[in-house]
Amino acid sequence: VVRKQRDAIITFFLFFSFLFRAVGSPLVMDPNSICRKTKRLAGKQAELCQTEPEIVHEVAKGARLGVRECQYQFRFRRWNCTSHNKYFGKILQQDIRETAFVYAITSAGVIHAVTQACSMGDLLQCGCEVTRTRAPPLPTAGPGADGSSWEWGGCGDDVEFGYEKSKQFMDAKRKKGKSDIRTLIDLHNNEAGRLAVRNYMRTECKCHGLSGSCTLRTCWKKMPHFREVGDRLLERFKGAFKVMGGNDGKTLIPVGHNIKPPDKQDLIYSAESPDFCLANRKTGSLGTWGRVCNTTSMDVSGCDLLCCGRGYTKQTVIFEENCLCRFHWCCVVQCKKCTVRKELSLCL
Ligand SMILES: *[C@@H]1O[C@H](CO)[C@@H](O)[C@H](O)[C@H]1NC(C)=O
Ligand SMILES: *[C@@H]1O[C@H](CO)[C@@H](O)[C@H](O)[C@H]1NC(C)=O
Repeated sequence: VVRKQRDAIITFFLFFSFLFRAVGSPLVMDPNSICRKTKRLAGKQAELCQTEPEIVHEVAKGARLGVRECQYQFRFRRWNCTSHNKYFGKILQQDIRETAFVYAITSAGVIHAVTQACSMGDLLQCGCEVTRTRAPPLPTAGPGADGSSWEWGGCGDDVEFGYEKSKQFMDAKRKKGKSDIRTLIDLHNNEAGRLAVRNYMRTECKCHGLSGSCTLRTCWKKMPHFREVGDRLLERFKGAFKVMGGNDGKTLIPVGHNIKPPDKQDLIYSAESPDFCLANRKTGSLGTWGRVCNTTSMDVSGCDLLCCGRGYTKQTVIFEENCLCRFHWCCVVQCKKCTVRKELSLCL
């Protein structure tokens, strides 16, 4: 567990420091050290550091949330969103599908974390969504469609606040020397990530009334769970659109004929991904040697695809696991340690 935590922290730090160097985003682990480096930050971000250090803290949390989700979504793929500093940094310098996903998921993480902090009352600048000004939805469309009356209340998520903050931070201008097309692509993918949160708000309600009669309901808006956001962005990753720059250097054109143009929620890229089979510092590929593969699966996690046709070897690993857990009133869980043998297939 300790190792896992450390890895997450390393990932986070490296990701931040990289973006710092390469992109100019405020990605360092603790807000104090982000803000000490304000000279290297783009203007708007430096300003936020001075005026809103608590938000910087949430932005940092959000980026980490995004990277963790990236690692979950890509755990069975050749490129597994590795936290290795140099390799991860290389992915971000390219313009491939994987880059698009990382930008989108980290922007989504930031809108999610900031909005969540608002709802939890952790920030002075924001709180629950102000619903007094919100028009009640049509009775036929809302949760009160069955005729029972209902009103907005509770604590809705103020996603608009998170959206604006994510935009302020993640869309800050890059340093000079980066092509306009790349900037356009990154900004598009940042927005796609934010929309994967903002466009999928759900309504939660609570019943009031005698003995659960539900004569009145109070309803509020909640963000989607972040796992759901990750799942959705993975689908966009699979269907990502290839684009190229137009002659004016300001527009993006889909590549290939008869392809509908990407919409705002689609991920876009301009260069083909490497195959990620072998280690290569230039492309940010760690290779798949030693990765655990699945002998019966036909998809990307299967040994054929994951090991790039090189084959695999079987290895028996022995590890300890909690087992025979018993719940003692109240509230302790006691487990025994069991030794488990497991046969793993590892890529050659
Ligand atoms: C990702 O892949 C690298 C190298 O291929 C491996 O060392 C690492 O353990 C993998 N990470 C996870 C979480 O599977
Ligand atoms: C391997 O793949 C099969 C078929 O897709 C799946 O049912 C099984 O759960 C996978 N095993 C592991 C350990 O992921």
